[in-house]
Amino acid sequence: MADRTYRVGVLASGGGTNLQALLDHCVGEAPARVVLVATNNPRAGALPRARTAGIPTQIIEDCADAASVTGVLTNAGVDLVVLAGYLKLVPDQTVAAFAGRMINIHPALLPAFGGPGMYGRQVHEAVLASGATVSGASIHLVTPEYDRGPIIAQWPVPVLPDDTPESLAARILTVEHQLLPAVVLAAARAGRVVRMVARGAHFNGDTVDIVPAEQ
Ligand code: GRF
Repeated sequence: MADRTYRVGVLASGGGTNLQALLDHCVGEAPARVVLVATNNPRAGALPRARTAGIPTQIIEDCADAASVTGVLTNAGVDLVVLAGYLKLVPDQTVAAFAGRMINIHPALLPAFGGPGMYGRQVHEAVLASGATVSGASIHLVTPEYDRGPIIAQWPVPVLPDDTPESLAARILTVEHQLLPAVVLAAARAGRVVRMVARGAHFNGDTVDIVPAEQ
C-alpha cells in the first residue's frame, strides 16, 4: 500500500471520456489523484473536463521537445503518466524518464490492430475489415515504439455482425472506462504498475472483477 496519494498526469488530445472516468474514480478515499491534464490540442474536450474538476491543465506547444514534455510531467510531480487518447508520439527521452510509469489505452486487442496510424476510427475499420469476431481494450506500458510495450490489461468485447466503426468504438469505450481506473487504482495501491486480469470479462452490461494478475 502506497503511503501517500499517487499522483497521476494525463495526456489527452480528444474528447477525454477516459480522463473523465479517471476523474470520477480518483476522488474521496481513492489512493490516486489526477494532478495534471496536458494536451497538444487547445480544443481538446479533456480541458473543460479537467477545469470542471479543478485540475491544473497545460497545453504543450512542442510535443516533440523531450525537455518540455518531461518538464511538464516532472514539474507536476507525477508518479504515473496516462496516455488517454493522446495522438502525439511521446519523445524517447520522456518515455525513458518514465519507464515503467507510463501507460497507454488502446481500443483493440494488442498486438493486433496497433502501431503507427492505428488510432480512432481506423482501428475499428481495420478490425471490421479483418472479419475478427472479437475486439476489445488494451492497456500497455509505453515504450518508444507505438503500441508495442508490455500489455498490462485487456478486456475483450464481441464484434457483432451489424457493427459499424462507431458502434464498435462505443462498445469498447464503455469497457475502457472501467479498465483504466482499475489499472490506475491498482498501481496506486501497489506503488507500481501491475498486470491485471478482467475476470469473466464479456460485454453483458455487468461490472466484472478486474484484479491483479499476480498477488
Ligand atoms: C479511446 O478509444 C482510447 O482507447 C484511444 O483514444 C480514445 C480516446 O477517447 N487511445 P477519449 O478521448 O478518452 O474519449
